[in-house]
Amino acid sequence: MLDTDRGEFTRDGFLILRELVPRERLSSLRASYDVLTERQKQALCSKSDSGPKSQWETNAQPRIVSTETLVDHETSNAVEVWVSDPVLAVAQALLASPNVGVSAMQVLCNPSFEAGPAKWHRDIHPIDMGPMQLQQEAVIENGPTYIQFNIPLYDDEVLWVVPGSHARLNTTSENERLNGNARIPLPGGVPVKLRAGDGVVYNNHLLHWGSNYTAETKRRTLHGGYTIFPSWEDIGFSNVLSDKSCGLFESWRDRTRQLKDATESCLRAVHQDDQSAYRSGLEFLQPRIGPAGVLQLTIWLCKAAMHVYLLKSVRVEDVSNEIFQKATVSHPISLNWGPGFAERFSVVESDAIWQKFRKLDQLLRTANGTDYVPGYQSGPIPYFIESIDDRFCFSELFST
Ligand SMILES: [Fe+2]
Repeated sequence: MLDTDRGEFTRDGFLILRELVPRERLSSLRASYDVLTERQKQALCSKSDSGPKSQWETNAQPRIVSTETLVDHETSNAVEVWVSDPVLAVAQALLASPNVGVSAMQVLCNPSFEAGPAKWHRDIHPIDMGPMQLQQEAVIENGPTYIQFNIPLYDDEVLWVVPGSHARLNTTSENERLNGNARIPLPGGVPVKLRAGDGVVYNNHLLHWGSNYTAETKRRTLHGGYTIFPSWEDIGFSNVLSDKSCGLFESWRDRTRQLKDATESCLRAVHQDDQSAYRSGLEFLQPRIGPAGVLQLTIWLCKAAMHVYLLKSVRVEDVSNEIFQKATVSHPISLNWGPGFAERFSVVESDAIWQKFRKLDQLLRTANGTDYVPGYQSGPIPYFIESIDDRFCFSELFST
C-alpha cells in the first residue's frame, strides 16, 4: 500500500510514488504500449497527407492521445493500469472529493529527432479557465479538482518542476527569465527522477518543464489525469476490461451525465434568479466548497454561459477567434462539456443567461486591452492572466 502524503503534495505541488506499477508488470505493459504506439502512428498516417514525413516523425513530443481508442483484448492492460488500485487510491486521497474519475490516458514518447528542451509553463489557459490566483486560492481552500500523473515505463527525468510554485504567482525574477530564455533551468527548479514503474502525481498549476526531448532514449511515459469532473460517453472499449474496471467506466459515464445536468441546472438557476438552486447545483458539482471554490466554479460557469451563447447566438458577438475556438472544443476539467452541451438551451435562454453573467465577465477583462504574463498557455489576451482588480460575490448574479 502506497503512502500518499497529502501534506507533502499540498506543500510541494507534487509527490513521487515509488513502484506505483509493480516491476513484474513492466514488460507486459511495454509490449502492449509498443503495439499501441504503432497503431497511433498508423492512425496519424491515415489521417494525414503531410508528405513523406508523418505527423509522428515531425512532432517534438509525439504521443498516444487516447489509449482507450486503440486497445483490444491483447493490450487491455494499457487501460487497466490507469484504473489499478494504487493509482485510483492516490487520486481518491488527493482530490477535493472522493468521487473521482480518470480524465485522460495518454503516453509521451520520444521524438524521432533531437528536439531539445520545451518552455517552462503552467498548464493554465486563463482565457477560458480564469485568473491563476483565484484557481490557486480554490485549491488551497478545497483541494485540487484535477491532478496529473506521469508514470514512465522506462527511466525518465525529462520533467522538471519548481516545488511550491503551484500555490503562488510567478516572481519578478521568474518572469525576467521566462521572457528571456524559457528553455533553460529556472532557479529552484529540480528534475523529477523516476525509475521505470515509479510515478509522479502533480498539480499542473506548478511551473514545470520538459527539459529535453531526445531521440536517443526510448520514452514511453504514461501521462494523464484524474478529476472530480470526468467526461465519458462512448465506453464501448471497456468490454475488453475486467468487470471491475468496466464498472468504473460505467460509473464515470453516469457521473458525466449527472455533472452536465448539474451544470445546466446552475445556468438555469441564474436565469431564473434562484440562488438556492444555484447553490444546490454547486454543492453537487463540488461538495462542501468554500467561498474561493464558489467563485472559481462561478467563473467556469460564466465561461460555459459564454460558450453556449456564442454557439447559439444569431447575433455576431465581437470576440476573438481564440475565444470562439474555446467554445468549439471541450475541456471538462473546467466544466466546458463541448459544443453538444449548448443544445440543451434555446437561443432565447442562452442570450438571457449570458446577460446575467456579463458583469462577471467584465470583471475578468482588463480595462486597457490585453494582459500578458509569461509561463502560461497564453499569449496576450483581453482577460486578466494572474489576478483581477475587483473581487466578485456569486450573489451578485442574482437580484433576490
Ligand atoms: Fe505541461
